[in-house]
Amino acid sequence: MKGIILAGGHGTRLHPITIGTSKQLIPVYDKPMIYYPLSVLMLAGITDILVISAPRDRESFRRLLGDGSALGLSIGYAEQDRPRGLAEAFVIGTDHIGDDDVALVLGDNIFHGPGFSGILQENARDVNGCVLFGYPVRDPERYGVAEVDDDGNLVSLVEKPARPRSNLAITGLYFYDNDVVDIAKNLRPSSRGELEITDLNRAYLERGRARLVSLGRGFAWLDTGTHDALVEAAQYVQILEHRQGVRIACIEEIAWRMGFIGREDCHRLGTAMAGTAYGRYVMDISAAGRPAPEERA
Ligand code: G1P
Repeated sequence: MKGIILAGGHGTRLHPITIGTSKQLIPVYDKPMIYYPLSVLMLAGITDILVISAPRDRESFRRLLGDGSALGLSIGYAEQDRPRGLAEAFVIGTDHIGDDDVALVLGDNIFHGPGFSGILQENARDVNGCVLFGYPVRDPERYGVAEVDDDGNLVSLVEKPARPRSNLAITGLYFYDNDVVDIAKNLRPSSRGELEITDLNRAYLERGRARLVSLGRGFAWLDTGTHDALVEAAQYVQILEHRQGVRIACIEEIAWRMGFIGREDCHRLGTAMAGTAYGRYVMDISAAGRPAPEERA
């Protein structure tokens, strides 16, 4: 399965922070925002990833992540010159996707919860249609909203409904089979001129090929859309990291844990940041003589 991180747009709701830089590059506590969605793809077992950004930000993302080889990944870059909708990612990413299935994650979405890597790997195995991830929220009118029947089957999908039929938001993580490329190419722009991801998902739903995985209570899907939400997300990460002594979305650790790189490679990446607590964490967890994280669990 291929991966796409969509990190486009100009983050206008976060001005003045995002006047000079991309929203997905600003920090959420101890790491750039894009580390969080990148870690989601890595935990799903995906190593071939395309980062789509606004043209002005492309070099900044490349400076941060390079070609991905240090993490055992292959990372490429592409541009979305105007915000023409999330579904355009599959048009821009056609060559990258090739004949494969594809996972799309939005560059500003933060997921954290027990058993998440298991959920990801299980659902990435046999996509056959599309897989959406639902999450209960207080304010569903801000998102794509799913309606489900008593058996949990998907009944309807509506983008930012004035009167939501449920509190189940569709999160910014989507798995698709290869049909997504054709479906995206045949979408018509919505009234706001964008190729809507919800229209694409509805096309799958109409064919009876959309399934919903509910991320329930106890799971965290965090918002980063406003100044307050950004601080709250950072506090969430800080509290958990301080309390448990682990790091969330530490891509070096995940690369090692997933077997993309070896212990020494991981340790070397930590050494290069030895002046920070983040770097020392990476060095510490991968120090020779320490058991691998799985063995400690
Ligand atoms: C987009 C999608 C929406 C989804 C949300 C998740 O909204 O259109 O369906 O629920 O991402 O973050 P946007 O953030 O572009 O308003």
